[in-house]
Amino acid sequence: MKQKIIAANWKMNKTLPEAVQLIEQVSDYIMTKRLRFMDENVLVVLALPYVYLYEALYITRNVPHLALAAQNCYTERKGAFTGEISAEMLQSIGTEYVIIGHSERRNYFQEDNETLLKKVDMALEYDLRPIFCVGEQLNERMEDRHFHVIQKQLKDSVFHLPETDFANVAIAYEPVWAIGTGKTASPIQADRMHQFIRSEIRNNYSEKTACNTSILYGGSCNAANARELFSKNDIDGGLIGGASLNAADFEKIIESLY
Ligand code: PGA
Repeated sequence: MKQKIIAANWKMNKTLPEAVQLIEQVSDYIMTKRLRFMDENVLVVLALPYVYLYEALYITRNVPHLALAAQNCYTERKGAFTGEISAEMLQSIGTEYVIIGHSERRNYFQEDNETLLKKVDMALEYDLRPIFCVGEQLNERMEDRHFHVIQKQLKDSVFHLPETDFANVAIAYEPVWAIGTGKTASPIQADRMHQFIRSEIRNNYSEKTACNTSILYGGSCNAANARELFSKNDIDGGLIGGASLNAADFEKIIESLY
């Protein structure tokens, strides 16, 4: 059964005490639902600010169906890159996932497809699973270029991977115009793009890999709209920003999966 993933992207939010409290709340929730999680093949991923990962790994060490992610990693292995964090460092503390290509990284930090390819390669070299984000800007959708934009993002940064490596990648479709704006892609719009992404994976790799890849939706996904989005065949979960910062909302979103 394909893995369903609900990933929380906390972005640059929470102090340490707040972070610990929310991690404990989510962990307690998962412990009470773990049989359900097992039956439905659900995984919760918490993408935390770097400084909380080590503490979070300790808190969650006995929690099944929960993995931790970084929100970024650097393109180089090691060296004189003040302020950067390498994939190897993340691996060495036990991080399992890393978000790569989030639109905020693309837009505010000028990360282009070539840079993202290097990050994807680096992550996989150190056994981190990338959650690779793709998404079009509003003007690209208005000009009917959204399928082309997503196709190029995939081709330029992840489709160079051998199939065995690609099998460790999850894709998150996040239309940029829907992130943090309260505007969600309609379930039909989202599902169409997810079908397109899956067909691109099929064309580039195989039917099996296309079926097994988790494709998440992100962009103003919340407790009110999650169930309808997740009811679509090709939407395998979500990458949740704002609504992941509160345990009750986040739990409702997880519950929408089944
Ligand atoms: P949002 O963010 O849910 O706050 O729109 C999603 C994301 O940026 O991953």
